[in-house]
Amino acid sequence: MSVLPIVMWPDARLREVCVPVAALDTALEQLIGDMFETMYDAPGRGLAAPQVGVMQRLFVMDATWKEGEMSPLVCINPSISPLGDVRSTNEEACLSIKGVAADVTRPNEIELRYADLNGTKLTARLEGFAAICAQHEMDHLEGRVIFDHLETDARVALERDYESLLI
Ligand code: NI
Repeated sequence: MSVLPIVMWPDARLREVCVPVAALDTALEQLIGDMFETMYDAPGRGLAAPQVGVMQRLFVMDATWKEGEMSPLVCINPSISPLGDVRSTNEEACLSIKGVAADVTRPNEIELRYADLNGTKLTARLEGFAAICAQHEMDHLEGRVIFDHLETDARVALERDYESLLI
């Protein structure tokens, strides 16, 4: 396994909609191993394939490892539906947009449908931080980032902050 370079905003690949994963093969298994290593090294709690330049519908996450409990999750060709009407706003950071965080409003509880590396179709109900993490990574597969959740003024200000950090 190896740590892969992370694609940084405003790289155009982070605005693209990803295509479904077509083959569950050894190359994909290797990629997933590398994505976990890259995520833990960063250190982060989630990483989507486009963040390492692979434009396919796949992400890895581990919402709890920073608190000392590992819960690695591989999501291939995922989809998400909100459960209930409760939404909350939380500060989110992104490994591709280092140095800034945005207040993002999302549903509290979701149903996550995905396939694992064996092609087994699974469903999980997620809430709290795990739900935030899965929705954040799902956004990457649709070419959306934390900036896209902000009103125009807030977005302009935060993008300006981020750009000033790049210089
Ligand atoms: Ni991100």
